[in-house]
Formats: sequence, C-alpha cells, structure tokens
Amino acid sequence: MSRLDSAIRRLQAQRDLLNQAAQDIGSMEGVVLELGLGNGRTYDHMRAILPDREIYVFEREVRAHPDCIPDDQHLFLGDVIDNLGLARKTLAGRAILVHADLGSGDKDANMAFARNKLSPALLPLLATGAYVVSDQPLSLPGAVMLPLPAGMDPDRYHIYRADDPPLARRHAGRVA
Ligand SMILES: C[S@@+](CC[C@H](N)C(=O)[O-])C[C@H]1O[C@@H](n2cnc3c(N)ncnc32)[C@H](O)[C@@H]1O
Repeated sequence: MSRLDSAIRRLQAQRDLLNQAAQDIGSMEGVVLELGLGNGRTYDHMRAILPDREIYVFEREVRAHPDCIPDDQHLFLGDVIDNLGLARKTLAGRAILVHADLGSGDKDANMAFARNKLSPALLPLLATGAYVVSDQPLSLPGAVMLPLPAGMDPDRYHIYRADDPPLARRHAGRVA
C-alpha cells in the first residue's frame, strides 16, 4: 500500500470512529478530551459533530491552524501525562469521549507510551460508558475493546468503551 493510501485510510478511520462514538454517547453527560491537537484537524471535526459539548485539548506545543485553537480555558498546554494528572482535580470521572492521537514515527515507543503511561493517566478521567478512540492500543481495566466497522483495517485505529472504569468511580466520589 502506498503511503498516500495509508494516510487516507488512517484519516477515514479517525473520522468514522469519531462519528460512531459521537453518535453512541448520545445525550450522556460528560466532557470530551482531545489528546494531541496537531494541526487541529480532528479537533475541528469533533467540535463540528459535537457542537454542544465542552472539548478539552491536551498538547505540548500548539502549532495548529489558527482557526482550530481552543480558548485558554479548554487547553492543557504541556506534557499530556502531567496535565492528565492535573485535570483529575476537575475532570475525574467526567470524560465521556476521548480521542488520543499522540503518536509519532517510532511505533515501539508509541505503543509503550500508550500502554504504560497514557492508559493509567487517562483511566481516572473516564466516565462510566465513556468511549475512547485511539491511534495506539491502550490498557484500560474495566473497558472493552469494540469491533471496528466492517472494512477497517485491524490495528489501524482502536475504540474502547469504559463499561466499568474502577478508578473513575472512586475519583468521582461514587462507591467503588
Ligand atoms: C499526530 S499529531 C495529532 C494530529 C491531530 N489529531 C490532527 O488531526 O491534527 C500528535 C500531537 O501530539 C502531541 N504530543 C505528542 N506527545 C505529547 C505529549 N507527551 N504531551 C503533549 N502533547 C504531545 C504532538 O505535539 C502533536 O501535535
């Protein structure tokens, strides 16, 4: 497959899974997290399909299209792991949809980061029933990996539903 074909399939997978998750959360209460703003493409899509949701963006260095930069109240600027820790003060157990797209060129490093650092940092923020759409496989106890839509390459993108995120209940002050 050419690199162009691969890039197109990746973008299609992002859009299809974000559309599916946005539909599936319906009117469930909660906020949306975009981890990795990049040039703002997926952020722009998420705010288009979820116009009434608060969307919090995590990015170490903003280099997005000027039209696709969130306001300061919705931007966690700096390292995503540090900032997910800070966000627990206000967003624990409240994220109903998360899109994580933090990967760079190093596949092994991306996978290790997602599994060992991102997953545990993200878990306390997830609401029960939250959808997590990710470029990397995650390790989320209490979540199930959902099947990809027909025709989507396995391993290109991933989608989870947090049916029973244990830490979320504790951090949201509900019974564990
Ligand atoms: C592939 S791009 C995201 C592209 C975006 N989804 C889009 O559609 O434009 C990945 C982004 O994640 C950011 N990033 C990677 N690792 C990070 C970290 N540890 N903390 C904060 N941001 C990080 C990078 O700066 C980069 O902008």
